[in-house]
Amino acid sequence: MVKHGPAATVLPATGLATAEPQPDAEPMRMVRFNPAFSRLLGSISQSAVKVPSMMSMLEKRVLFTLARERYTGSGLIIDAGIFLGASTVCFGEGLRQNRSFKTATKRWTKPIISFERAIINPGMPAFFKRNNVEGMAEPGESFADAVEAMIEPVADLVDLRLGDILETGQGIEDPIEILFLDVLKLPEISRFVMRNYFPRLIPGVSIVVQQDYFYERLPFIKTDQEFFSEYFTFIGEVCSTALFLCTKPIPESAIDQLEQGLPAREQERLASRAMQRSCDPARRYMMAISKVRLIKQLYGSESAQDYLRFVKNEFPDQVASPLPRLKDALAAIERVCWDGDD
Ligand SMILES: C[S@@+](CC[C@H](N)C(=O)[O-])C[C@H]1O[C@@H](n2cnc3c(N)ncnc32)[C@H](O)[C@@H]1O
Repeated sequence: MVKHGPAATVLPATGLATAEPQPDAEPMRMVRFNPAFSRLLGSISQSAVKVPSMMSMLEKRVLFTLARERYTGSGLIIDAGIFLGASTVCFGEGLRQNRSFKTATKRWTKPIISFERAIINPGMPAFFKRNNVEGMAEPGESFADAVEAMIEPVADLVDLRLGDILETGQGIEDPIEILFLDVLKLPEISRFVMRNYFPRLIPGVSIVVQQDYFYERLPFIKTDQEFFSEYFTFIGEVCSTALFLCTKPIPESAIDQLEQGLPAREQERLASRAMQRSCDPARRYMMAISKVRLIKQLYGSESAQDYLRFVKNEFPDQVASPLPRLKDALAAIERVCWDGDD
């Protein structure tokens, strides 16, 4: 879940195309977009970067640019899993600079719907300490007040729904133009989001931002998204995030099919497809590790051990990398395969 340290500087617009120099070429930080989306890594205003976040500055710039440059006002912005509210502030401040701001806010009084459970989990205190977030309570307690305070500058644009998204996320009938997902921590949440929000995506317009895509855990995020690949085009990658443009209406029948359960071989095939999305070998390595987790769930420890041996042969540079992110991922998957950790 947490992937990057605190934000650094506010970078200028680069109008990146794939052939241009990258601002961050190191593993997991390389940015690549399809040429038609090459301007998604725009500049970001200071007002949008004040909230401490588990996202990188690069990811924040993409959210801000989506709201400022791409958002047309034809649907809502769903912002799911906001933690202290960084994504909400990026979307809100970006929206204020959007040339269609007036039309969009005439149509939608609150164009952004933000979801957050706002209960401190065991991993959060370490984040608060690293980022000098003071005055927070203990695990199990609420941080709702902090979220409300952090998003206050954009509160006029936001329908903030605190609580479990499985309850607070019901009943959205309007079209959805941007679907930001950093909340898919359980398969049932992923299925809920697909059932309730995917049919509301607008073909040719709506973008799904999967913040946990190139993440070595949560294999169902990859297989669920890839199950719908005929309805999307993959448009780019930034840090752990993958972006997909919806290209065709998603019928309820496709969601029924996913909910009925996919055969093991099909899940493997979808995980392999997800692995090939990135042009960064480090991200592919993370996806391969995620596939080891899937294999363990599907076939047990011995099969996972075999597949991990194969992955280690295929990714020698990543296995030898001193980068903490890659080392930690390997150590964790070794424990999953040999010690039965999950
Ligand atoms: C990885 S964090 C999000 C980080 C955030 N995007 C940022 O920029 O810092 C995931 C968030 O999802 C929230 N969450 C997890 N399960 C949830 C649920 N069922 N309903 C609502 N929020 C949930 C957690 O409380 C947590 O804040």
